[in-house]
Amino acid sequence: MLKDKHILLGVTGGIAAYKSADLVSRLIKAGAKVDVVMTRSATEFVSPLTFQTMSQSKVHFDLFGLESNMEVEHISLAQRPDVILIAPATANTIGKIANGIADNMLTTVIMASTARLIFAPAMNTKMYLNPITQGNIRKLKALGHLFMSTGEGRLACGDVGAGKMAEPVEIVQYLEDFFTEKDLEGKKMVVTAGPTIESIDPVRYITNHSSGKMGYAIARNAAMRGADVTLISGPVNLSAPSGVNLVQIESTNDMLEAVKEYFDSCDVLIKAAAPSDFRPLNYNDKKIKKRDSDSENVSIELTRNPDIAAYFGKIKGKRIMVGFAAETNNMEEYALSKMKEKNFDFIVANDVTREGAGFKGDTNIVSIIDRSGKRENLPIMTKDDLSSVILDKVKALFIQT
Ligand code: PMT
Repeated sequence: MLKDKHILLGVTGGIAAYKSADLVSRLIKAGAKVDVVMTRSATEFVSPLTFQTMSQSKVHFDLFGLESNMEVEHISLAQRPDVILIAPATANTIGKIANGIADNMLTTVIMASTARLIFAPAMNTKMYLNPITQGNIRKLKALGHLFMSTGEGRLACGDVGAGKMAEPVEIVQYLEDFFTEKDLEGKKMVVTAGPTIESIDPVRYITNHSSGKMGYAIARNAAMRGADVTLISGPVNLSAPSGVNLVQIESTNDMLEAVKEYFDSCDVLIKAAAPSDFRPLNYNDKKIKKRDSDSENVSIELTRNPDIAAYFGKIKGKRIMVGFAAETNNMEEYALSKMKEKNFDFIVANDVTREGAGFKGDTNIVSIIDRSGKRENLPIMTKDDLSSVILDKVKALFIQT
């Protein structure tokens, strides 16, 4: 999403400037082209050399320096960016920009540019809440510029409250969202993700290897594309994607009940979760003791869990349903029969024994099979990129109907 996007990063004088070095590194990794312009006071916090090394290009801060090709530097910088990001944005620089003051390289470039501004403010709570700062923010928002919210916590000055700059990872996500076309706006989606757990007793359970990464990538991407997303997730170690309604559940029965709540009003159900097919027939409400068994071998009798996809496949109506198939052998054959049994519009089949595919990792290798029997074997790709492919297919189905 950020590949080849031209981002001008304005760094102003606050302690959070050190985080912007990490931000530049993340932007470059995501494929963006980054120009860094620092205010003089920012250079007191972090050396321009740090940003130069990270961005792999010259850092600008001296309005009166001459370019070797005689091009007027601030005008050339002002023309390039797709967006100007100011992170950290101090009360002082926000105030200058809101009032048309152009007395350094950064504010001059901004005055000469037509690019949208995104601010990641960072300042003391009282400065942030000061009516003058808030008035300046309102003024800039009214002009169409964007402000990221600040975090709350202990600030560098020792105060506790609002005014903490958003983390670099959040700023990158914000930019990705900014550049993403809202082509799924108005669509309601339910995405399931992660494993389910089935308790044996209060301390033990059975589960599987799903990390939730595949489902979370789909939910995050769909929300960025404007969909109204409910993510129903088993226990995972991932943070809730922004803009998504996260419903946390434990067992397959919980997942079934949660999907029931959102299914009626949804347009799309994507079943990326790995729900446990079985649960212990009897739950022991006390911890099972080792000494309770004389034998070396202990059995747990299992009973079948409901098949959530099959349940909703029967009452699907005009909704689009996408399934996954996690296989270890005969992948295409099994996937095809699951697609028919569960009434999916298409199925994403992964051979979970292949290196780079299936559980836990950041990549997957899949074949997508649709109801006409068409198969598409995709190369290894990140779960993020695969989620875009899946959502493009969902979008194409909306266009067809
Ligand atoms: O979470 P990650 O670590 O990123 O791993 C991703 C993944 C491997 C979990 C994912 O890519 C995947 O394959 N998900 C489906 C796993 C699975 O349960 O496959 P299945 O072949 O057993 O089930 C077929 C379909 O029926 C799936 O869409 C599944 O969500 C659904 N199902 C299965 C069992 C059940 N009781 N109810 C269901 O709805």
